Amino acid sequence: MARYIVTGAAGFIAARVVEMLAADGHEVLGVDSLNDAYDIRLKHWRLDRLKQLPGFTFLQADISERGIIQMLGEKAKGCAAVINLAARAGVRSSVADPWVYFSTNVDGALNMMELCRQHDIPKFVQASSSSVYGDNNPMPYREDANTDLPLQPYAASKKASEVLAYSYHYLHGLDVTIFRYFTVFGPAARPDMAMFRFTQWISEGKTVRVNGDGRQTRGFTYVDDIARGTIQGLKPLGYEIINLGGHEQISMLDLIHLFESKAGRPAVLEYGPIHKADALANLSDSSKAIRLLGWEPQVSLEEGVTRLVEWYRAERAWASQVKTE
Ligand SMILES: NC(=O)c1ccc[n+]([C@@H]2O[C@H](COP(=O)([O-])OP(=O)(O)OC[C@H]3O[C@@H](n4cnc5c(N)ncnc54)[C@H](O)[C@@H]3O)[C@@H](O)[C@H]2O)c1
Repeated sequence: MARYIVTGAAGFIAARVVEMLAADGHEVLGVDSLNDAYDIRLKHWRLDRLKQLPGFTFLQADISERGIIQMLGEKAKGCAAVINLAARAGVRSSVADPWVYFSTNVDGALNMMELCRQHDIPKFVQASSSSVYGDNNPMPYREDANTDLPLQPYAASKKASEVLAYSYHYLHGLDVTIFRYFTVFGPAARPDMAMFRFTQWISEGKTVRVNGDGRQTRGFTYVDDIARGTIQGLKPLGYEIINLGGHEQISMLDLIHLFESKAGRPAVLEYGPIHKADALANLSDSSKAIRLLGWEPQVSLEEGVTRLVEWYRAERAWASQVKTE
């Protein structure tokens, strides 16, 4: 059994990664700043569950602070990998405050790579994003597409972490897997994302805001598939960038209809302008993940939405109060 450091452990994706590692008998040190980028109740809900797992320990700390390298020093010794999922996520708020995105997504990633170098941790897994593909590439997106034109500071920060990781691979032999996640959904998802919002807004009879005409499409991927793929990426690969994304696409309007049928309530729609930072579509070519990792998504969009709505019903007392702005 191995020991891992997982950053952003109280986050949506990392919490599932930790649960799966612990279920396989591994030890995990979770690191998270528990910042208030979105409603903190979700982070505490996830963390409270993790704290019950055998082999899980938690450190509340900010990975963008250089002191984190020393703070983690002793604990990092003997670790098999750092899985760096801590980030400021979401494209829109990166337009309002790009600095905080760069300090966590670039300085923070740098600190985690330095931690690996200083403590001979052989493997580094970095979360990147489909947003690095911008809007000028043929879909489905392949890893070798042009990612030199990120449309938002968020995407630019993710691209920076990818290329910095190459330097660490080249100079120090760090084995790196970069995952470009496509839009992820599931229980306890981020409340700034459509899936959580649609669940809450439709279940509570609130007006559902639709950006643009609602015809923009997304390739959604269920969180368990993403977490499983992330763990499969722990194997030695040299330096690889790998898309993790499902192949089912749906428009926002069709997604709303799916939620209406699962929640058993009609949605009240209000159309607004599209945000310049939003992508109009995204879809993954995941053949590299299949080839290198044997990864394929297993949970369908419909099954995932059913699980999300069931989770919401079970947690409704507090989930209905979660701020979605
Ligand atoms: N959810 C998606 O659809 C999606 C898509 C593409 C990429 N990603 C990437 O996947 C990773 C996980 O995303 P998520 O959706 O779970 O987001 P999340 O916001 O739920 O999780 C990130 C966690 O990192 C923590 N964090 C942020 N800054 C920190 C810092 N400086 N120090 C320590 N902890 C810090 C946050 O408190 C949070 O718990 C991120 O790198 C994100 O950019 C997510």
